[in-house]
Amino acid sequence: MTRPYNLSAGPAILPPEVFERTAAAIRELGPADDPALEARLSILEISHRSKTFEHVHHAAMDLCHDVLGIPRTHKVLFLQGGASTQFAMVPMNLRQPDRAAAYVDTGVWAKKAISESKLFGETRVIASSAASGHDHIPALPGPDAYRDASYVHLTSNNTIYGTEWERLPQLEADVPLVVDLSSNIGSREMGLENVALGYAGAQKNLGPSGVTIVFVREDLLGRSAPGPVPTMMRYATHAAEDSLYNTPNTFGILVLRNVLEWMRDHDGVAGIGAANERKANALYETLDGSTLYRAHAKPGSRSRMNVTWTLVGKDEAEGEALTKRFLAAAQSAGFCGLKGHRLVGGCRASIYNAFPEHGVQALVAFMREFERTA
Ligand SMILES: Cc1ncc(COP(=O)(O)O)c(C=O)c1O
Repeated sequence: MTRPYNLSAGPAILPPEVFERTAAAIRELGPADDPALEARLSILEISHRSKTFEHVHHAAMDLCHDVLGIPRTHKVLFLQGGASTQFAMVPMNLRQPDRAAAYVDTGVWAKKAISESKLFGETRVIASSAASGHDHIPALPGPDAYRDASYVHLTSNNTIYGTEWERLPQLEADVPLVVDLSSNIGSREMGLENVALGYAGAQKNLGPSGVTIVFVREDLLGRSAPGPVPTMMRYATHAAEDSLYNTPNTFGILVLRNVLEWMRDHDGVAGIGAANERKANALYETLDGSTLYRAHAKPGSRSRMNVTWTLVGKDEAEGEALTKRFLAAAQSAGFCGLKGHRLVGGCRASIYNAFPEHGVQALVAFMREFERTA
């Protein structure tokens, strides 16, 4: 039986080469030229303090700079607790006395970040796409809206709605820009030098769940926020110990390293970004050229990672019935994970870096045939 096409929003598809290398490392880490005895053991059983693991760990950190384009002025951290923990760590560490935190509300994940910020103090929503069902990226207001803020926070790609900032904005005031990059990190050249602090759960473009990549401009590590911050929740703790303050997710970091090496060997974010654009364009052209499918995101705000749509009938009930039939037929034809997020319904194709172009072509052919026979 051929492998199904995996369109899951996360944990998500990874390159087959990564599965092969990782499977080998579960049996015996290697490489053959590592003289340490631990190299002949499994990644699952060696100490995070061993030279062999340190080698993997630091290679992964270097690749974050070299492949993802994280500037060397920023410290890379490998943390746990997912992007959801960052929703709290950001205000805990970056909030300044008597200064509000400014947020852009582009849907569920942004709202969760806003709720956590409210636990710590005044939180200002400076732009929102809520009124139109989060179908676009709202314009950022002028600097008067955030000049006095502790930081400005936004979500670069909205996994649930399928909207994405075409370009990360450059703030017009000297305020740190904080970005949740969970679902488009590494998907193209992103201009990360304008980001003061970025974070992403690895489980979409970069590896398995359980590792969160955080990068933080060195000068922000010295910021002291009002109120006590528990040791494990301080960025400075993890920065001082190179993310080895406590036991990290050693397996996840090994897979992350393998994925980053795969990206490096596939022309990095420039080459992968060009392929991602071709994949997304093929799907949006199919949606826009159809009377059965309707794309959710407006042009100019469309995600290259998560493409979302519904099927249209003569009324809402018929549209929902058609969507259900479409999803069942897609599953039978070998496309997994196409169902939209439980909060919004519809369909969602998550076409992360490792999703092949031939998979998009197969999906387009399936969609056209379904429409012809519907
Ligand atoms: C944009 C975005 N932010 C945050 C999260 C939450 O991530 P985690 O499950 O790693 O906490 C997700 C999960 O899908 C996401 O898509």
